[in-house]
Amino acid sequence: MKVSVIVPTYNERENLPELVKRLSKALKGYDYEILVVDDDSPDGTWRLAQKLAEEYPVRVIRRVKEKGLSSAVIRGFKEASGEVFVVMDADLQHPPEKVPELVKAIESGADIAIGSRYVKGGEVRNWYWYRKLISKGAIMLGRVALPKIRNVKDPVSGFFALRREVLEGVELNPVGFKILMEILVKGRYKKVVEIPFTFGLRKAGESKLGGKTIINYLRHVYRLMKWEGEIDRLIKFSLVGLSGVFVNEGFLWAFVRFLGLDKIVSNIIATELAILNNFLWNDLWTFRDLREKPLSQRLLSFHMAALTGAIVQWVVYIVLLYLGMHYLLANLVGIVASFVVRFVFNRHITWG
Ligand code: GDD
Ligand code: MN
Repeated sequence: MKVSVIVPTYNERENLPELVKRLSKALKGYDYEILVVDDDSPDGTWRLAQKLAEEYPVRVIRRVKEKGLSSAVIRGFKEASGEVFVVMDADLQHPPEKVPELVKAIESGADIAIGSRYVKGGEVRNWYWYRKLISKGAIMLGRVALPKIRNVKDPVSGFFALRREVLEGVELNPVGFKILMEILVKGRYKKVVEIPFTFGLRKAGESKLGGKTIINYLRHVYRLMKWEGEIDRLIKFSLVGLSGVFVNEGFLWAFVRFLGLDKIVSNIIATELAILNNFLWNDLWTFRDLREKPLSQRLLSFHMAALTGAIVQWVVYIVLLYLGMHYLLANLVGIVASFVVRFVFNRHITWG
């Protein structure tokens, strides 16, 4: 299988020669090409790449009008002639010697092979603990928000290989900030493997991704949630929840008013009826396409979610009160927390 290694570059003149040299050594025996997609770097990376092309199977794409990491990678996909695509950074944070391992994983049946920092054996060198925490937190959020990628430990890695067919007929959004995540959500694949590697130090030059990284990431996650229909589910889940409020209040009123039942007993029954109401609508509407577990299990799990939500709501309320927050605001935060917990619980477990 021919391998196309796609390397987006912006001001990587100092790193490119070593990258190309080590890559060529690593890929000896393979039919391969190296596509350097450069955004007209002021340091003349593209010119140097053209020079390297005299000696190595390098192809240079110099973009003058467009900019951006993701769109550069997408352009590389369009120009690539191989059956296996590899994406990697130019700054040698991704070891070229690992590329054959990624390619072999594809050859032995994987559709996507990820160079992963967060599976056993993987590592990030020289990051402060809080940088790791932010990275892991961001990934965790993405995995919770996008159930399709929940088993992937490093869905934002910039180092990965894939079979050409994964992208056939797939429209990738160039605004998409993390291109691998975009592919994992929109691509056509069955088997994903993660191969540990050590995310090393940048050889020369500086990182271009900083500043608005987190905001951009959140926006990307949101866009993908929308694309996946998860935002629709969230809205449906909220509407169902709202209907439950009316069911709850209505029955409570009816039990007390017409049946003369005790107000505490009435509340318990009304709450249970509201839970059943919510379950029914969520099962028939919000999560209709995800009814895989037996009904009894879904019902039980939905009750567990309700209970967990109630506990979270109560704990948040107490803690915030204790911290001095206004009781109405504290309650509101508790309600929101409960909502999130119930949605996530139900999405991943009840209808997971
Ligand atoms: N063509 C082009 N256009 N290339 C770019 C651009 C751009 O606008 N911005 C960055 N690049 C190139 C760089 O030259 C480098 O080869 C590669 O993209 C990665 O850029 P870095 O600036 O080194 O990114 P990083 O090290 O902060 O982030 C890397 O690790 C992240 C995981 O922590 C990237 O691989 C990210 O994709 C990855 O999520
Ligand atoms: Mn880098």
